[in-house]
Amino acid sequence: GLPKKVTIIEVGPRDGLQNEKSFVPTEVKKEFIKSLKNAGLTEVELTSFVSPKWVPQMGDAAEIVADCLDGDTRDIVLAPNRKGIDRVVMTDCKAVAVFVGVSNTFNKKNINKTTLESMAELKPIIGELKEKGYFVRACISTAFYCPYEGEVKPEDAVELCRQFVEAGADELSVADTIGMAAPHESYELFSRLKTEFPNTLLTAHFHDTRKMALTNIFAALQAGVDRFDTSAGGLGGCPFAPGAAGNAATEDVVYMLERIGIETNVDLEKLMQAVKIVQPHLSRPIESTYFRLNAET
Ligand code: HMG
Ligand code: MG
Repeated sequence: GLPKKVTIIEVGPRDGLQNEKSFVPTEVKKEFIKSLKNAGLTEVELTSFVSPKWVPQMGDAAEIVADCLDGDTRDIVLAPNRKGIDRVVMTDCKAVAVFVGVSNTFNKKNINKTTLESMAELKPIIGELKEKGYFVRACISTAFYCPYEGEVKPEDAVELCRQFVEAGADELSVADTIGMAAPHESYELFSRLKTEFPNTLLTAHFHDTRKMALTNIFAALQAGVDRFDTSAGGLGGCPFAPGAAGNAATEDVVYMLERIGIETNVDLEKLMQAVKIVQPHLSRPIESTYFRLNAET
């Protein structure tokens, strides 16, 4: 049967904003994060410690972390390399997400290394972080399709996940980066990952480019997944993955789960307030169905 309870990992402040062309003021980001937490979201990607030359929007990462850490929530920050990790350990944040693409070409475009080079750098880093007591989340990009290489073999995605599990990662967040997966592919890959890695947290991360994210989430639920990365307002996309639209919108996912009778502990009304904080600073409209029906002014 389906899980009775689902954990939502809110990625709006990170995946959501990283693709925004105009800089969202740091104070607005902080208010956004606080109101997301106020809506009941207990795991939040706050920002990423990437190169500000590559992603200027994330240039205020240290300021965000200094103000938004909270004992009650798992606050996660992304880091792509040693330099990023060095910046993270200067803060009090205790949960780090590393990210690698199954597809070499995507990984090159995104972090300027091959997948193998990234893994060679990250494996010892994960070991060190675990020794220091960090929570380590591993984000696996292009697990289904790559904007440059096309179809990705499920075996290759499973193999990359295995390397992260062996390196000590606590969580696998497996992504359909460009929103091309179909529900049977979601079901098959997540069923397999559930069986292969029963002792690692397994999370599904769907982008909604082709309006298949909700369907893919339902298929992953049927495969036993009970953790989903979503973005308030359906913001998001990777600047180095052409065609990557926003993530599944938190409000649409929470609404669907509630209708099925699955508990999320997210307050939709408060979530709409969070979206409204960031909305005036965005260069794109909020396209989530729940927002359109319930919060448009
Ligand atoms: P590079 O140019 O090869 O880096 O970029 P480098 O090591 O040659 O360094 C160049 C300069 O950047 C140096 O500064 C470094 O100090 C600096 P300079 O000497 O020129 O002044 N630098 C840094 N500064 C701050 N923080 C750092 C850092 N590293 C180097 N961490 C690099 C390599 C990885 C830095 C770059 O490619 C990068 O920042 N990439 C990040 C791209 C990104 O943020 N992508 C989006 C997140 S992933 C995603 O969205 C997918 C996900 O949602 C799942 C899915 O949907 O698939 C997670
Ligand atoms: Mg993403």
